[in-house]
Amino acid sequence: MLHCTSTLSGKTSSAFPRSVGYSKSCVKATAAKASDTNSDTQQCSTYFTDISTSRRLLISALPLLTLVKDSTVVADEIPAIDEDEEAAFASELAALVPKGASKVFVAGATGQTGRRIVLELRRRQVAVRAGVRDVKKAQSLGLAVSTPGTSAGPVELVNFDVTSDQAALIEAIGDADAIICATGFTPTLQNLGGLKPGAANAVDRLGTINLVAAAKSAGVNQFVLVTSLLTNAVDAGQGDNQNYKVLNAFGGVLDAKHDAELNLRASGLTYTIVRPGGLSNEPPSGELIVSGEDTLFGTDDESGREISRDQVAEICVEALFQGAADNKVIEIVSSPTAPELDRGAWFDI
Ligand SMILES: NC(=O)c1ccc[n+]([C@@H]2O[C@H](COP(=O)([O-])OP(=O)(O)OC[C@H]3O[C@@H](n4cnc5c(N)ncnc54)[C@H](OP(=O)(O)O)[C@@H]3O)[C@@H](O)[C@H]2O)c1
Repeated sequence: MLHCTSTLSGKTSSAFPRSVGYSKSCVKATAAKASDTNSDTQQCSTYFTDISTSRRLLISALPLLTLVKDSTVVADEIPAIDEDEEAAFASELAALVPKGASKVFVAGATGQTGRRIVLELRRRQVAVRAGVRDVKKAQSLGLAVSTPGTSAGPVELVNFDVTSDQAALIEAIGDADAIICATGFTPTLQNLGGLKPGAANAVDRLGTINLVAAAKSAGVNQFVLVTSLLTNAVDAGQGDNQNYKVLNAFGGVLDAKHDAELNLRASGLTYTIVRPGGLSNEPPSGELIVSGEDTLFGTDDESGREISRDQVAEICVEALFQGAADNKVIEIVSSPTAPELDRGAWFDI
């Protein structure tokens, strides 16, 4: 029986939600008795990567194929696929396969947003390395999932503290080729519930800078960073904005995040910086509003000020799939009165 392997994911086609449709393509290749002379796997892999290339290969192989004894192959049996169909196929496939990521390291995977990012990645069948400070906490949250019949699960839990040295961070990142970072400093008694000046420094400034350096050394392709609205409030003329003043009173967290953003932007890594408004654990109650850098300030005259963590997770993961997300800073909130925003336009800002 034909075994279709995707060169993009390294997994069998059964891992893809639309595998039935793709299998048909592979069966067409088999009908040409390519299996007698060539590798089925190779032929089918080509379908996954580029249907045009596949057709070209098949066509160029025809003279050989017609020499095969008892072959019924004739040129007019090759399925005709028009340009529109090719474009639709390519676009559907692109939506299923992350750009440069076969495995994603989630920093802060036990966090309220982090764990939703893990879930969203798995919904989209992306392998995950979940970076956690406390493995027991992660297990109690149900993050330690394993695949039946295999030793490694789709979610690998790894010890991770963003304040660790480079060697430890590189080890934690492992073979992941993308990172989504949703860490945030924890208010404690020692830092006066987060109000101590500079309390956010170790995690939200130096920690993220540390992780970006490790990502570069580990050969990571993409880095998605969750920060916040108003990280650049002062330069954007919002220094007197009450939201900025109140939020930044927590250990200078917005200033710390802004320094981390600047560092990531200068790092040379492909990045997407996602700045959400106030986070909610409720399911989405409004439509997504995506706006450019320094355009949303959480003021009363703006239509949305909050956003569900579910939507933040979705857009962080989507950034791994859409080239339009590369090297952008986006600001996101949601509003029940906003028009529905097509997923394909999320990063068109
Ligand atoms: N709350 C809001 O309304 C709001 C608004 C805008 C932006 N944000 C930002 O959005 C992001 C996600 O927010 P959230 O509320 O979902 O976060 P959260 O639940 O507080 O989770 C923060 C995560 O960071 C981890 N963490 C803390 N210190 C760490 C360290 N030294 N090394 C590694 N991991 C560390 C925590 O680990 P443990 O589980 O071990 O504690 C936790 O997993 C944060 O950056 C936050 O500042 C929040």
